[in-house]
Amino acid sequence: MLVSATEMLKKAKAGHYAVGQFNINNLEWTKAILLTAQENHSPVILGVSEGAGKYMGGYKAIVGMVNGMLEELKITVPVALHLDHGSYEHCYKCMDAGFSSVMFDGSHYPIEENVAKTKELVGEAHKRGVSIEAEVGSIGGEEDGVIGMGECADPKECKAIADLGVDFLAAGIGNIHGKYPENWQGLSFETLDGIQQLTGELPLVLHGGTGIPADMIKKAITLGVAKINVNTECQLAFAEATRKYVEEGKDQQGKGYDPRKLLAPGFEAIKATVKEKMELFGSVDKA
Ligand code: G3H
Ligand code: ZN
Repeated sequence: MLVSATEMLKKAKAGHYAVGQFNINNLEWTKAILLTAQENHSPVILGVSEGAGKYMGGYKAIVGMVNGMLEELKITVPVALHLDHGSYEHCYKCMDAGFSSVMFDGSHYPIEENVAKTKELVGEAHKRGVSIEAEVGSIGGEEDGVIGMGECADPKECKAIADLGVDFLAAGIGNIHGKYPENWQGLSFETLDGIQQLTGELPLVLHGGTGIPADMIKKAITLGVAKINVNTECQLAFAEATRKYVEEGKDQQGKGYDPRKLLAPGFEAIKATVKEKMELFGSVDKA
């Protein structure tokens, strides 16, 4: 059964580790992530962007697929199904479809409007037992059409949003979606520290988890990050493994056409990436 992400993230923050949110794109992604979580006794959050939701046939189709896998693959670790960077309208669509968690990304609104919309959605989500993430500041780069300028969050604005009762909070601290550029300045730990001083026990979320050096990840966890989002890294691993398999002629010298065989190396690559992240985030054996 799907669970909200509230309890798993409270436990993570108190236990000084982070739970990974891994974005899904299709059946292979979903199955690879769920099996890896089960094998490593780790809680996990499946992230769905609005674009991926449309690609997979809609939110109800995703809820059906995930619930079916939880039962038939005998997944017993805590699993949350979470809308990633959702608009106001799509938060409602996902809650109606049976998601157990949503992110309302109101970071592009003026702070007053972000507060008003977040407040309404917090009430609605909690009525339904759904957890809710909000965002302040913005994550740089682009993810599935969501573009951010990458400005660091103002800790006072984070407190204003935290006080609305959100279950966890994403804050821009110099993190970027996609690959980090060569001249990236790194995460702003000063901003993160300022935010955690004002938001106390609230679990903080680090987006743009792809390619952040291990020492920065560990430091971010010590400063209150309890959820780390990873998307691009699984895509890179999948693409590289698939390309290698075909280029090395392992698909019967270019004559193979069984999708189960063509997608198998990519599936294994996603599993390896997710395992590596769970070990780094410290969520192994925390289910
Ligand atoms: O919301 C999803 C993430 O922030 C993923 O970022 O693609 O850079 O790993 P990433
Ligand atoms: Zn993100």
